Amino acid sequence: MTGKAAEKNLRYRAAGLAAFVLLAALGFTLPRHTSNASGLASPEPQRRVVTATRPVAQRAANRRPRTDYRKFNHASSKHREQACDACHKFPSPNWKEARPTGDAAFPDVVQQPQHASCLNCHREQFFARERPAPAICSVCHTESTPRRQPRHPFPNPLETFNQTARARDFISDFRIFFPHDKHVEIVSALRPAHEREAGASFVNVSFARNGNRAQQKETPKQGEKPQEAKPNETSCAVCHQTYAPQGETEEEYATKPPPDLGEAFWLKKGAFKTTPNHASCFNCHSQETGVLPAPNNCAACHRLAPAPPTRPRTDFDPKVAAAMNVSDPVILRKWRRRTSGTFRHEWIMHADLSCNACHNVTAMNTLDEATKKVPILSCGGAGAGCHVTPTTAADAGALNLALEERKAKPGFQCTKCHLTLGREPVPKSHLEAVEMIKQTGGS
Ligand code: HEC
Ligand code: HEC
Ligand code: HEC
Ligand code: HEC
Ligand code: HEC
Ligand code: HEC
Ligand code: HEC
Ligand code: HEC
Repeated sequence: MTGKAAEKNLRYRAAGLAAFVLLAALGFTLPRHTSNASGLASPEPQRRVVTATRPVAQRAANRRPRTDYRKFNHASSKHREQACDACHKFPSPNWKEARPTGDAAFPDVVQQPQHASCLNCHREQFFARERPAPAICSVCHTESTPRRQPRHPFPNPLETFNQTARARDFISDFRIFFPHDKHVEIVSALRPAHEREAGASFVNVSFARNGNRAQQKETPKQGEKPQEAKPNETSCAVCHQTYAPQGETEEEYATKPPPDLGEAFWLKKGAFKTTPNHASCFNCHSQETGVLPAPNNCAACHRLAPAPPTRPRTDFDPKVAAAMNVSDPVILRKWRRRTSGTFRHEWIMHADLSCNACHNVTAMNTLDEATKKVPILSCGGAGAGCHVTPTTAADAGALNLALEERKAKPGFQCTKCHLTLGREPVPKSHLEAVEMIKQTGGS
């Protein structure tokens, strides 16, 4: 619910009977209007007949846009005004059980807030006469009978949550604030495990705890010269690895494609990069090390996501994902955010490039989608003339070819790099990229 609507609700409640009568009258004359304003399909026309004999005030109460108490929203005005720890107590009493293996456990929030954090404001909803249980219980419980009160899986630890059906549709109310510039140097200073000495700084030790795969991969084989990676390139792999790679296996597709696929797009393995979570962040940001922000300062890293109308469009089609039987929650979360839905990191030509050829983390603000976009010019391969070329000859790049096709056939859909955005008008950035390559001759 929007802040405005919540405010309106409170005003309704505070209003006297006279106002209710007036609102009810308005409701009767303008039922369509009110239902549009609340954004909900109103079941009102039938209800009106049934409730005609009830007291006026109660009828008016039914006219309020009804609040859905089954789903919690952090952006509601009264919720966002509170400190995170008004509800999330750090750490949860069961943090040791949440990551039980070896020394993997660390103090963390791993379950829903307690009843006490809601009761001050929601006594009415907690004791509502609703069957089988008050609606508000289903924010946290899958069932709440006197005998059983199992809860929904909580999205942290993510590794456990990702094994549950609820993870597939999970979209966080938040975006992560992460300043790359303040971290790449610290993380680049991490040396591969074989070089690490006993008694090294906390940073090295704490990363060793996770047995970081990326670092192990970078350890040169016997007799091989250690690779001279740029410092910040080393850092990228500490936090971002290729997710579910094809590796040396034969099977390149993420799910089984139809036998008659031909040239059509089908999601391949190794398309996405992972992002780190508490298991990495809290190595350094812990109460032991004292590195700020502290782990209980949730709002330092989690910031409310922009409201839907201001969110940028992305290149994701849930129907395509369903048709391909893609149900992996890690993939779905990444895919939903893409501007280029078909890009694959593991494709050999891409994997050989430096991350910096396509990503400029110094200029990136992780809260601002526009700064996270990969410029289309980097699809030209920094002068390598891959997808953006100076000519439209036979060896022209995918963008040049797509632009030609568009010119010939206005309905042409650009499918090389896009799933849904390829149906839209050609953006200025694409035309400018071709112009730029022409002027510089592709070098
Ligand atoms: C009024 C109580 C309340 C406050 C205040 C609150 N939360 Fe929550 N939070 C909840 C509840 C309840 C859930 C579980 C919701 C669910 O599972 O659908 C939750 C779930 C979450 C989740 C997992 C779901 C998601 O959307 O990503 C994160 C992350 C989170 N809270 C972070 C925060 C941060 C950061 C703050 C402070 C800026 C905060 N919360 C303030 C009640 C609260
Ligand atoms: C400081 C008061 C306050 C606290 C504490 C509070 N809420 Fe709310 N909550 C509100 C208000 C005000 C609304 C808007 C009511 C309306 O629209 O009728 C609301 C709305 C809701 C809704 C409807 C959907 C939404 O988010 O707008 C749910 C569900 C909800 N609260 C659950 C909870 C739960 C669960 C807790 C405890 C973890 C909690 N609230 C704590 C004040 C509070
Ligand atoms: C904000 C999340 C949340 C909401 C909403 C919620 N619960 Fe709970 N509930 C919990 C948590 C967390 C526990 C476990 C408490 C613990 O073990 O410390 C719990 C435990 C319980 C228990 C076990 C006994 C106890 O109190 O520890 C019962 C019974 C229960 N809930 C019933 C309900 C009912 C009925 C509703 C709706 C009226 C409800 N809960 C709403 C989070 C919630
Ligand atoms: C200490 C961990 C860490 C290091 C090191 C790191 N990143 Fe990140 N990166 C993050 C986090 C956290 C996010 C935000 C994730 C989110 O929004 O969910 C992020 C976001 C990104 C994104 C945007 C992701 C998206 O969802 O759009 C890109 C691209 C990226 N990083 C590239 C890099 C590159 C390139 C490097 C090396 C120069 C690097 N990162 C180094 C932690 C790290
Ligand atoms: C050839 C260009 C290219 C190279 C090289 C490249 N990326 Fe990407 N990367 C992309 C594109 C394109 C996206 C999707 C951006 C979008 O759709 O908004 C992306 C997305 C990401 C994301 C967000 C998650 C995802 O997969 O959507 C992360 C994190 C990331 N890249 C990290 C890296 C790291 C780390 C490296 C180096 C090891 C790297 N990238 C190398 C082009 C590249
Ligand atoms: C290797 C240790 C290390 C790891 C791992 C690490 N950080 Fe940090 N982080 C730091 C240090 C040191 C600072 C203080 C830097 C400064 O103020 O210049 C910091 C600062 C921050 C800040 C505050 C920046 C500001 O502008 O105030 C945020 C937010 C942050 N880290 C988020 C994260 C997140 C999210 C992760 C996990 C993806 C993470 N960090 C992982 C060491 C680390
Ligand atoms: C140092 C930065 C940092 C702090 C502090 C922090 N988180 Fe997170 N949190 C992250 C990152 C990074 C992720 C992974 C996001 C992703 O996978 O896209 C994450 C993920 C989560 C998730 C899993 C669901 C999701 O949104 O991805 C929950 C729940 C969560 N955090 C809750 C909290 C709560 C509650 C607090 C405060 C007690 C907190 N976090 C403090 C960085 C932080
Ligand atoms: C070589 C890959 C590639 C090809 C071919 C391609 N695009 Fe894109 N497209 C991108 C990338 C990368 C972005 C994100 C950067 C940007 O906005 O310029 C993007 C962004 C977009 C956007 C979003 C722009 C915005 O401002 O939100 C639209 C719309 C779009 N492309 C349409 C098209 C159309 C139509 C075609 C065919 C004429 C096409 N693209 C061909 C890679 C490609």
